Amino acid sequence: MTSERAKADQGTKLWGGRFSQATDAAVERFSASIHFDSALARYDVRGSIAHARMLGRTELISQADVETLVQGLEKILHEIEAGEFPFDPALEDIHMNIEARLRERVGAVAGRLHTGRSRNDQVATDLALFLRDACLASQHGLLALRQVLVRRAREHVDTILPGYTHLQRAQPVRLAHHWLAFAEVLGRDSGRFADARARLARCPLGAGALAGSTLPLDRHDTAQALGFEAPSRNSMDTVAARDSALEYLAAAAICMVNLSRLAEELVIWSSSEFGFVELADAYSTGSSLMPQKKNPDVPELVRGKSGRAVGNLVSLLTTMKGLPLTYNRDMQEDKEPLFDSVSTLRDSLDVMAGALATLRVNRARMREAADDPMLLATDLAEVLVREGVPFREAHEAVGRIVAHCLAKQVDLRSLSRDELRHWSPAFPAAAGELLDVEQSLERRALVGATARSSVEEALGSMEEELGEDERHLAAENET
Ligand code: ARG
Repeated sequence: MTSERAKADQGTKLWGGRFSQATDAAVERFSASIHFDSALARYDVRGSIAHARMLGRTELISQADVETLVQGLEKILHEIEAGEFPFDPALEDIHMNIEARLRERVGAVAGRLHTGRSRNDQVATDLALFLRDACLASQHGLLALRQVLVRRAREHVDTILPGYTHLQRAQPVRLAHHWLAFAEVLGRDSGRFADARARLARCPLGAGALAGSTLPLDRHDTAQALGFEAPSRNSMDTVAARDSALEYLAAAAICMVNLSRLAEELVIWSSSEFGFVELADAYSTGSSLMPQKKNPDVPELVRGKSGRAVGNLVSLLTTMKGLPLTYNRDMQEDKEPLFDSVSTLRDSLDVMAGALATLRVNRARMREAADDPMLLATDLAEVLVREGVPFREAHEAVGRIVAHCLAKQVDLRSLSRDELRHWSPAFPAAAGELLDVEQSLERRALVGATARSSVEEALGSMEEELGEDERHLAAENET
């Protein structure tokens, strides 16, 4: 079937008029995009239906023709969704596959559909519609993950672990505080998709190949029918631009890089060395050789797939760099990276939410690690500051105390007031009275810090933010 249609199309390709030779088979394979751009079918049909109706309203084609075209297109969409559409690489892309199929179904009237339209404004329209949905879907995925993080944070306000810098134990923090950090950054990721989506407000359809059309199309009509605010403002920009795809790819790359950091922590934390968490069996895998192994493959893969997302962004940036206005066939290379980032991000968000939701936290191990008295050295210096000692001097004195403890292998908390006074006369009490993990946390009651009150405050406003985002997203419709 496919090859017969292809043969029949030699010389009668939709653009075949000025050609006298059939396309070389290798060129056909090389230039075809149907094996990936079929993912745009739904949007392509929607765009075509809006275009056909507009052609009817502007009396460029008859109402009877509009009905024939629309019905044919709807049937084709069903055929595609049922997996019964005979995609044909000889017809290059999704646009021409659908148009050729329409001709098979409704006859010569199909030839009226492309009135005043080019594949350049058509593909830009398909992409804009696709991207609007992709941004929305990414926001939904992010919301679900943020909700899990905040739920888990709620459970662990009183779980204390070391916070790290340079992967060295630094100061004790609440696990809720730690996970809320990720809720923050993932919230900004969601904002990036919302921003990208808000910029997809202008409809490309009617820009034609690059300079509009001599025909009296109604661009406001198609823009409105497709849920855009208005037609785009410059036909050349419209067919030349791919910055909205780049924006999605950039937001996805940043988000995947953020996920890779969360993933990395799960990998480290589930090692025997840390033992802070255990991934549920459903989110781990075993070794084909070592029976004792339980591997964190899920977060490892998320970490690994961030490489793809970065690559996809760089790929399209590189494709677009230096292209002259307006459309260039290079731009067909936008789709594979884009589709890949959309599905990679969707799946990564999904498995990360599942892994976090089912993760077992070992509070005792975390607490044990946080009980390292050295984590309170800064607190000791700040005790001196409160006694009027300049911070640099206090830092120096405590540095010496730490060196002494390490050399003599004594617990910082065991030093008496007299011993402490050897390094600074300003110490008001014995170290044991000055240094306590809970107190240390409670003293950090600044906005955004790790005291119980600060964390409760942050949790409350984060929960509110998620509720608002949820309501907001529920009101946004898919294309
Ligand atoms: N498949 C093409 C793409 O994705 C559609 C636009 C083709 N336009 C053209 N003038 N050849 O870029």
